[in-house]
Amino acid sequence: MMPYKTTVWTVDNFEQISEKNTQLIQASLWIKKDEVVAFPTETVYGLGGNALSDQAISRIYEAKGRPSDNPLIVHIAEEGQLKELAAEIPEKARILMENFWPGPLTIIFPKGIKVSSKVTGGLDTVAVRMPDHPVALAFIKACGVPLAAPSANLSGKPSPTSAGHVFDDLSGRIPGIVDGGQTGIGVESTVVDCSVDGAVTILRPGGVTKEQLEEALGSEVGLDPAFTEKEAAPKSPGMKYTHYAPDAPFVLVDGSREFIQSLVDKARAEGRRAGVMTTAENEKFYNADAVIPAGERSRPETVAAALYDTLRTFNEAKVDVIYGEVFPKTGVGYAIMNRLEKSAGGNIVAENK
Ligand code: TXA
Ligand code: MG
Repeated sequence: MMPYKTTVWTVDNFEQISEKNTQLIQASLWIKKDEVVAFPTETVYGLGGNALSDQAISRIYEAKGRPSDNPLIVHIAEEGQLKELAAEIPEKARILMENFWPGPLTIIFPKGIKVSSKVTGGLDTVAVRMPDHPVALAFIKACGVPLAAPSANLSGKPSPTSAGHVFDDLSGRIPGIVDGGQTGIGVESTVVDCSVDGAVTILRPGGVTKEQLEEALGSEVGLDPAFTEKEAAPKSPGMKYTHYAPDAPFVLVDGSREFIQSLVDKARAEGRRAGVMTTAENEKFYNADAVIPAGERSRPETVAAALYDTLRTFNEAKVDVIYGEVFPKTGVGYAIMNRLEKSAGGNIVAENK
């Protein structure tokens, strides 16, 4: 059915929003026709479709240009909706739900029989989360069904943190976007596997940190071996694809500001336009064709919030190469570095100190 004339439904005053909001009802009519609509969550914008409709799921993959073996997260507004999705709720999953839902935590459950294998990419598990955003919750209620929703970007591009980002990627490819402004967290949810024998394993770092999970459970949380062993196949299929890539090659640099500046100087001497992705604290130290800060280094949550927008801004700066600073891999820094390493696609340079 492409191309569509993409409608943008702007919702404001959304702290008081409910499923009776006229804009949300209009948007939900598309969902009821098995079409897809983008909507805001507290992490990034999602591209939602009825999780119980194979037709809607096919349209999600088509609009994004996404490989269909990469499963989708199902978004719910009330705990009751989990019954028709998960075959069982393990004890530790229950503790995590109590502590982090609604919020940026996706839990992998054994899959219930009603869930189509199109949603799960053929796996016998299903990923579910309850987003902590009043518009997302009201929209899911207006639709009356759980919404399968990947990030609302074209496959391979940085995830969208504003309706404008969604429009840039998907205008003409989807019937509409619910605009709820900038998203707050800026990196996607943490994905944890609770489907295997009482263990909890992080498959994708995100908005909820390992430290927070361990504190809530009072026990250790594992990391998918794919994070530490080069050869291991990731259990979360999405982790193996190129992701979050700006148009120009992105090089992650583990080194001093002086070293980064020397790489910029070398590129420019070769006639290439060079950019630096930095932070507010370091901005003034660089001389390059584009120097763009992503938040403040001293407040990593501001870096997470600005990350994808900054990567997209480099596309407008028309640079040939981007050098990016690294961050400590603690707290949300772990998720930030995970995304930056993917943007770099293994293109990482370390200074010999
Ligand atoms: O914050 C978020 O999680 C955003 C917003 C829109 O909710 N959504 C999001 O979806 O990031 P997506 O599709 O871009 O990423 C989903 C991740 C992928 O890495 C996928 O492989 C993994 O979750 N996943 C989904 N179902 C899974 C399953 N059954 N087992 C293992 N990994 C799964
Ligand atoms: Mg994504």
